[in-house]
Amino acid sequence: MNKQVIYYPEDAVLRAVKQFETPFFLYDEARLRENCRNFKKAFSRHFPNFWPLYAVKANSNPEILKIIAEEGFDFDASSPSEVWITRKLGKTEDFAMSSIGMFTGNYNPASELKYAKDAGYLLNLDDISMIPMLQEIGVSEFISLRINPGVGKATIESNVFAGPNAKYGIPFEQAAQAYAMVRDMGVKRFGIHMMTGSNVPIGEKNYFGDIIKKLLEVVADIKEKTGVEIELLNMGGGFGVPYRPEEDSLNMEEIALSVRKAFDEQCEKYGLKEPHLMAEPGRWITADMGFLVSRVDVIKDGYKKFVGIDASSNDMPRPSIYGAYHHVSVIQARESSGGKPETVSIAGKICENNDQLAQDRELLHCEVGDIIVIHNCGAHAYSMGHNYNGRLRHAEYLLRIDGSFAKIRRAETFEDLYATILS
Ligand SMILES: Cc1ncc(COP(=O)(O)O)c(C=O)c1O
Repeated sequence: MNKQVIYYPEDAVLRAVKQFETPFFLYDEARLRENCRNFKKAFSRHFPNFWPLYAVKANSNPEILKIIAEEGFDFDASSPSEVWITRKLGKTEDFAMSSIGMFTGNYNPASELKYAKDAGYLLNLDDISMIPMLQEIGVSEFISLRINPGVGKATIESNVFAGPNAKYGIPFEQAAQAYAMVRDMGVKRFGIHMMTGSNVPIGEKNYFGDIIKKLLEVVADIKEKTGVEIELLNMGGGFGVPYRPEEDSLNMEEIALSVRKAFDEQCEKYGLKEPHLMAEPGRWITADMGFLVSRVDVIKDGYKKFVGIDASSNDMPRPSIYGAYHHVSVIQARESSGGKPETVSIAGKICENNDQLAQDRELLHCEVGDIIVIHNCGAHAYSMGHNYNGRLRHAEYLLRIDGSFAKIRRAETFEDLYATILS
């Protein structure tokens, strides 16, 4: 039983449900800071100039971003609004490499690239066809290119971001041609990036080392064919977290060591000057600090037993989009409610049958009014939320290190939902 998966801050949840209307997201600041520190420590040990970014798409609440920035991370932004929110945080003077981070979009028009560039982001272009856009927006001194190294891995098929079916990155066979193009346009400093999959299975212990080896082969090929030396290597995010109690946690120290070995081996083999290492985790930093806390509204005992809660898949769409598994804990409202554990599915209120946040789970007996805590909801959860069926998205609270709560986002109202209507 992995304690990291089954843990939730029970006392805080109990205090919170007495004060706040459910459902809500509860984020644990202590866990968030610990994740940031452990990630940085693992890599900085082997790479003194390691440059960590945080993938804003995983959880873009500005209070969360501020904490991550305080822990020494810059940002990986994927859209103009992510650029905008990071610029509003007020941290400007101490960004590493005099940049706020890297902008990695895909299929962007020149206007989006210009927006990110003007905000101080280092541009990471997703395709050769985007290179001519640099003429339009002004050629930067420093450019990174996203390479598809030909292979990718993820726990869920649609989270595989490299290989022949992926829509991302410059095929590695075209890499030298792409760097020659940017060099000929006047670019003087070069980065290389890959992001080959999200939530790479934890058991794939050699994956990151192997994929870095492959990317360094590409770096060597670029140097040989064009003379371009790569100064920054961004290995992307994708570090897996355990969602099921029987899964192990990722050993980040081991991953960092395997990346170190890959660098040593390839830089020596190809006579490369070592590029600075960057990474841009999202999930590993924020997933397990977040919980979706909800209350049982309805119990339906039909062909199956369904426990209807006041949150729905619009709050946390991962199970409905990919059939993702999230661990669930039950807090019985009345000590006397007892009852044997039973197999139930947890249902939301959306008119789609995939609005089941957990299916066929053996859970403590539930009654109306009990609290359901859904784990691992700090990453790709609220940020993937939507308003289908006119369902509102709910509040976010931060459990501070001193045990107090900060409301960091209010729940939406009907007026919010219709705020963009013109008549
Ligand atoms: C370009 C890029 N970088 C980083 C991430 C973060 O991935 P993860 O949350 O799996 O670490 C993503 C996720 O989609 C991504 O697309």
